[in-house]
Amino acid sequence: MKKKITFLGIETSCDETAAAVIRENSKGTADILSNIVSSQITEHEKFGGVVPELAARAHLENIEYIINKALSESKISLSEIDGIAATAGPGLVVCLNIGLNIGKSIAAFSNKPFIGVNHLEGHALSPGLKVNIKFPYLLLLISGGHTQFLIVKDINHYEQLGTTIDDALGEAFDKTAKMLNLGYPGGPNVEKFAKFGDKDFFNLPEPIINKAGCNLSFAGLKTAVLRESKNIKEEKKLKYNLAASFQNTINKILYKKTKVAVNIFREKTKKTNFQFVVAGGVAANETIRNTLFNLSKEMNFENIYPDHKFCGDNAAMIAWVGIHRFKKNMIDDMNVSAKSRWPLDESAPFMKGPGLKL
Ligand code: KG4
Ligand code: ZN
Repeated sequence: MKKKITFLGIETSCDETAAAVIRENSKGTADILSNIVSSQITEHEKFGGVVPELAARAHLENIEYIINKALSESKISLSEIDGIAATAGPGLVVCLNIGLNIGKSIAAFSNKPFIGVNHLEGHALSPGLKVNIKFPYLLLLISGGHTQFLIVKDINHYEQLGTTIDDALGEAFDKTAKMLNLGYPGGPNVEKFAKFGDKDFFNLPEPIINKAGCNLSFAGLKTAVLRESKNIKEEKKLKYNLAASFQNTINKILYKKTKVAVNIFREKTKKTNFQFVVAGGVAANETIRNTLFNLSKEMNFENIYPDHKFCGDNAAMIAWVGIHRFKKNMIDDMNVSAKSRWPLDESAPFMKGPGLKL
């Protein structure tokens, strides 16, 4: 029987310190031997967002403990591990360096291969931890820093079909929560309070909805929420109505833009039956899941999500990329450095800033 590969993953790109040990299994998915995530919510709560220096200090204080815990919970000794993978970007360089350096050190003293992982590839492959996914598939990556439609052709082979031209979707949720004083982190709170409101109460804009292919924009929507939020002060019912209307507008935007992306994907790949994967922190949102699931029924494709615990940042998805790359012999040397920007499709046009023509 072929040996099953086991990897230690380390993730410190933003505000979660995480380590995991996973092993590929005979079903083509992964056995999660341990998955430790230490969130820094309380550190950043009072500032309403991530403060890089605080995040880096918290990673430094926690990382050794988290890695030891991941190893001891997995009941696997370091000698049984085939390699170490740590996130090398994109993200906050001061934070990335902490996981990257400790990962390299462990690899060096245990004489194991090291892989510097693109965090976005982690999200892209994350549903594969539990479900068999087949290339090529259509990916909607929705996180705190990114919002993209991509064709995932293979490990390391991505074609970007569309992206946000301004804010990321998670950012739009977080800013809305801040404007409505709903607490931090924003996304889950907007989702929670939206359930108490009337989704049709406010008529909010859907920017670039009928143009620019499957590119997206949320800045105009954010400005509209800001304008309305100033009028409603702390009136609870209206706040919930605004959260509900925001969530409903997002659902409508994603529904329409996914429709466009599906048509582009079908045209490019000539595949009518395919998997549509939604990943990243915002993929935890239930009403987005329901909306896109309904679209998948209408347009006849398969819709796949990671388990809730693998939507937000975690190290299991980083170890999973490590296993895939290791099997393709894509090993890094110790010179791999942290990158703040690292697109999955390096040839895709940069879609932000003044002068952008759509
Ligand atoms: O993937 P992630 O954990 O970190 C990044 O790589 O950015 O995504 C974090 C983002 C945050 O903006 C957070 O508010 C959002 O995901 N998020 C949600 C939900 N849970 C997390 N947004 C909407 N609804 C949710 N349930
Ligand atoms: Zn992430």
